[in-house]
Amino acid sequence: MKVCRRETFNAAHRLFRPDWSDEKNKEVFGKCNNPNYHGHNYVLETWVEGDVDSETGFLIDLKVLKQLVKTEITQRFDHFNLNLDCKEFANLNPTSENISIVIWNILREKLDPKYKLTIKLWETENNICEYSGE
Ligand code: NI
Repeated sequence: MKVCRRETFNAAHRLFRPDWSDEKNKEVFGKCNNPNYHGHNYVLETWVEGDVDSETGFLIDLKVLKQLVKTEITQRFDHFNLNLDCKEFANLNPTSENISIVIWNILREKLDPKYKLTIKLWETENNICEYSGE
């Protein structure tokens, strides 16, 4: 059984590697390499897998999951520039893949180990990334 909490956040980013030339950055990252940054309306799905508690009928209390995602993720990244404002990406290219790994690592530490955790991050309606720890 799996349940999911969906949250959204807006954030700006720029994809680039400081150790690459401007030309190579432009070639690999295209429009996402714009030096003046650009924004996304990210949709974050936090999927939790486990057993249904026979007493409550819940897998996990979604109020608790909602609060966890808000406190740990939304408040941390919403309306920030990931490259400039968020220490997690000071030395890490903020691709969807890397953002998903960062989010998964943060939530994994806070979530009861009895649950399996999967992060699904929608950068656009068409570009989606999923991470379960491997
Ligand atoms: Ni982008």
